[in-house]
Amino acid sequence: MNADSSQTPVTGSAGVGEHVLLTGATGFLGAEIMKRILRGHPESRLTVLVRSTPRETASERIERLLAKSCGLQEVARHRDRVEVVEGDISNRGLGMDSERAATLQTRVDHVIHCAASIRFDSPLEVARRDNTEGTRNMLTFAERLTRLGRFDYIGTAYVAGNRRGLLKEDELDMGQTFTNSYEQTKMESETLVRAFAKTHPATIFRPSVVVGDSKTGETSSFQGFYQALLLYRQLYSKGVIVLVPADPDTPVDLVPIDYVVDALFALMDSKKSIGRCFHLTSGPGHTCTFDELMRITADFTKIKPPPYVTKETYQRYLRPVLMLVFGRTKKRGMILKAETYMNYASSNFVFDKTNTNELLAGTGITTPDPRKYFVKLLEYQAKALRLG
Ligand SMILES: NC(=O)c1ccc[n+]([C@@H]2O[C@H](COP(=O)([O-])OP(=O)(O)OC[C@H]3O[C@@H](n4cnc5c(N)ncnc54)[C@H](OP(=O)(O)O)[C@@H]3O)[C@@H](O)[C@H]2O)c1
Repeated sequence: MNADSSQTPVTGSAGVGEHVLLTGATGFLGAEIMKRILRGHPESRLTVLVRSTPRETASERIERLLAKSCGLQEVARHRDRVEVVEGDISNRGLGMDSERAATLQTRVDHVIHCAASIRFDSPLEVARRDNTEGTRNMLTFAERLTRLGRFDYIGTAYVAGNRRGLLKEDELDMGQTFTNSYEQTKMESETLVRAFAKTHPATIFRPSVVVGDSKTGETSSFQGFYQALLLYRQLYSKGVIVLVPADPDTPVDLVPIDYVVDALFALMDSKKSIGRCFHLTSGPGHTCTFDELMRITADFTKIKPPPYVTKETYQRYLRPVLMLVFGRTKKRGMILKAETYMNYASSNFVFDKTNTNELLAGTGITTPDPRKYFVKLLEYQAKALRLG
């Protein structure tokens, strides 16, 4: 990102700051980041920017989440170090009261921006509010921080859109088009962070598809990949799936949450990460094909995988029939949802990890192999959701 040698190199700090501002703490990844800061960095203060809901204040949400994941005793130990600020990144000024904002501007030295809307089916203008404008608002806030040492941004490897081949961490806009509003608005957000990084200490992390823990399969979220898997099982058990619209050779990049968090904190620990972008992915050598995952799933569920068809064949012949048969039933929604994942089963790219591997060398953090842990994810999902 800092490729322009005519510019003064941007300096910043290494490691978790004295006072961290974290967004997205109620989400799958943000909750793990919050836990890691509380448990692993007792000297740091943490402010989390959280939305309230009609049923709970922002503080109640965090209290409940921490009590569930850490237990009441541990929550009590951390209470003095955590400050919950009610806000919304889609608002200019982040929806914070001005007094609070002014105090934070003199204290916060580290921002981790993890919040985003990860829905694939939002209209573009809706996704833009949380993702593009949300990131813009975070950057505007960060610009005013008097002690900013790092701005760490959680992006996504799927800014790749419809690209093919080996995708490098330093590449962003390569003329790609996008499958959904999520990819497009995360691309717009990353563009803003790259511009900010020319003059401020910023780092971009791009996870691929984050799944449960590689050792236990544990996860707090059954969104995304898990939804696709569940939909497949539900549709199949209802006799809806006769053919799978996928390319069996499609690389599917899954990355376990424990690796993502370990790698993120190790990379933040190095000043060399400033101004750079890192794929937190399985990457070359560790990326399974769609067919490999289907076979492991078939072994586990004892559901024989149906034959594959191309996306084009599905669109042309299968979809019209499905819509005719199920168009007015509840299953239509399931089919439309399943279709939002279809492009990921017919893509053809692998995420290069040169930057990540270079900086993680010697840390002992290595990429787990999905062929070894994938069944643990299936076991955990089946147990947690009581799937037969
Ligand atoms: N999960 C993955 O597989 C994956 C893969 C690649 C990249 N990522 C990136 O990782 C980050 C976290 O994803 P995740 O899986 O943890 O998503 P998630 O579970 O849906 O959590 C999203 C978080 O963002 C917050 N948020 C959204 N809009 C907000 C707003 N306007 N104001 C304040 N907070 C807002 C949500 O708050 P509420 O609880 O109030 O909704 C929630 O805390 C995202 O940037 C995503 O793009 C995730």
